[in-house]
Parts: sequence; C-alpha cells; structure tokens
Amino acid sequence: MEYRQLGRTNLSVSLLGLGSGGANRLGQAHSAAREDVHRLVRGALDLGINFIDTAPAYGDSEALLGEALAGVRRNAYVLGTKVSTRATSRGDLRVSLEQSLKRLRTDYVDVLYFHGLAPEVYDTTLETFMPEMQQAQRDGLVRFTGATERYETDFVHTALERALREDVFDVVMVGHNLISPGGLRNVMPVAAEHNVGVVVMCAVRTIIVSPQLLSETIRQWKDDGALAEDAVSDDAPLDWVLGDGVESLADAAYRFAAEDPAVSTVLSGTANLAHLEANARSIAALPLPRDISQRLRDTFIPANKSVLLHAFRRRA
Ligand SMILES: NC(=O)c1ccc[n+]([C@@H]2O[C@H](COP(=O)([O-])OP(=O)(O)OC[C@H]3O[C@@H](n4cnc5c(N)ncnc54)[C@H](OP(=O)(O)O)[C@@H]3O)[C@@H](O)[C@H]2O)c1
Repeated sequence: MEYRQLGRTNLSVSLLGLGSGGANRLGQAHSAAREDVHRLVRGALDLGINFIDTAPAYGDSEALLGEALAGVRRNAYVLGTKVSTRATSRGDLRVSLEQSLKRLRTDYVDVLYFHGLAPEVYDTTLETFMPEMQQAQRDGLVRFTGATERYETDFVHTALERALREDVFDVVMVGHNLISPGGLRNVMPVAAEHNVGVVVMCAVRTIIVSPQLLSETIRQWKDDGALAEDAVSDDAPLDWVLGDGVESLADAAYRFAAEDPAVSTVLSGTANLAHLEANARSIAALPLPRDISQRLRDTFIPANKSVLLHAFRRRA
C-alpha cells in the first residue's frame, strides 16, 4: 500500500481509504451482520488501509466502527468524522462531536469536517461554527479541520474552491471520478498550492458500475448539450477505458481518482471485502495508460456535470 502525506498535517495516510457512508454504509444498506462489518474493517487494516471516514449521518456506521476498532492501537489508524452544516445554534458542534467520540470509542478524531458544505451556507457555517471547531482543536478532541462538499448540487466545487483560496481548512473532501473530473481543474491545483490534504469521495458511487445508469446519464448529457454527440457512445460510453491492463471500470475508477499527486487518499465505500482487496490492487497498479487518462480529462472536464444524486435515486 502506498502512503501519502495528508497535506499540511503530519499524517501519513494510505492511498486507499475506507468509506462508511454512500450507498452501502458498511453493509447497513443490505443489513450486513455485525461480524461481517467487523471483518471488513479489520480486513481493511490488514490491507494496509489506515484512513477511515465516517459521519453521524451514516446510520450506525460510527458505532460499528467503534466496535470493530476496539482494541486496535489508536495511532494505527487515522479517523475522520463530520458535523452537520444544518446545525443551528452555537454549541451544536460540540454536542455532535462528543456523541461521535462516544460512538467511535475514542477521545479524539484526526479530522473533523463540516459535512456537505454548500455555497449557500458557507458564510453562516464558518461564522457560527468555525470558532467551535477551533476550540475543540485546542481541547484536543480534534487534530485537523476539514470540509466536504455537497457534491450532488455543487459539482463545480464552488464551496471547496472558495475555502481553499481563503485557506480555511487542513483537509477537503471532493467528489471526483471518471465522468466528473472537474476537481482536477479547480480543486487539486489550489489544494496543492496551499498544501491542503485532498480526500476523494464518489470515485465509483453507483453509476460507474451500473451500465444502464451510465448509459442513460451520457444520453442525457448529450441531450443537455454538455457532451458532443460523438464524444462517446451511448450504449457503452466507457468501454474504450478497458484493456491494456485495465480490468474493469471499478479498477479504472480508483486508479484515475488517485492519479493527481495532490490527492492523499481515495475512499472506497464498498461493503465487500473481495472488492476492497481488488481496489487495493487497483491503487497499487497506478497510473492508467496516459492516452486513456488524457481522453477522460479532455472529454469530461469540459462537461463538468454530476448526476450522481439522480443515479442514486434511480437505484433506490
Ligand atoms: N459529502 C460527503 O461528506 C460525502 C458524500 C459521499 C460520500 N462520502 C464518503 O465517501 C465514501 C466513498 O463514497 P462512496 O460510498 O460513494 O464510495 P465509492 O467507492 O465511490 O462507491 C461505492 C460503490 O462502488 C461499488 N464498488 C466498489 N468497489 C467495487 C468493485 N471492485 N467492483 C464492483 N463494484 C465496486 C460498491 O459496491 P459493493 O459494496 O458491492 O462493492 C458501491 O456500490 C463514502 O463511503 C463516505 O464515507 C462523503
């Protein structure tokens, strides 16, 4: 497993991280047995994964992680959780954080993020809750500060780009994948400039491994005028990515997501240990063939779209 420095923090993190949200939530979405969740989390550690992402909003994920990690040396893993930007009163951040720590059975988190920081709540969130986040840091409950974006609606990364230019956080979490790589233009370069850690989310989501959704989405983008009619085919839009050592679209997705040197870790939201093992092999097989990577950038950066929420709903 490759490890990279998480921006300006002193944390060395595995290039593949474990996500406990998304469609799966560690298997909660299909009522996975506790033992299977524990096996997944311990299996992740065995693969060399040391970066784990969670949130109070992910059902029982924090508590499941707390159980699965019981007895593991605390400095053997780097843990991030989040606080809602929908909190309304001063004090809410501290209450949320203390509940997270209890569920996670730890007395600190390495990164505390504002969860889904949308452009429209950027000012109020920072004014109201940044002082609380900094107080939690001084009190030793949080090591580094972060923000994740509301990717489904802010897929042009307005909030993160602003936060990076204002140099507010130590770590940002960005939605970035084969068909939505706009972060390469306005997130990764600014993060590198300010030495801010970049965590990639939604490298696969559901759409990349759902041929029908992928195909429908590409058709829709063409109808919207975001993609040229001849950019890619409608029925198998990413088939040209496969071959030359690229085994599947999931393989391509994790490799592509980790390509930029500003990226410190790519989260995998799988609930399937065999998939996690395959994804670790993908990360080890970096990079994608150069012509494929370039075509992905040339085709999809200008389109600058995300329909992942739509894709999510269609599947639900
Ligand atoms: N705003 C936010 O703060 C925010 C938003 C979204 C996500 N996140 C974080 O980012 C994490 C990652 O995002 P995500 O959950 O959407 O994860 P992801 O890794 O982009 O996608 C997970 C999906 O890919 C499938 N998959 C993974 N590996 C596969 C493989 N080798 N072959 C076939 N299918 C594969 C999974 O199904 P299987 O289970 O079958 O493998 C699952 O459906 C989340 O868990 C969460 O921690 C944060």
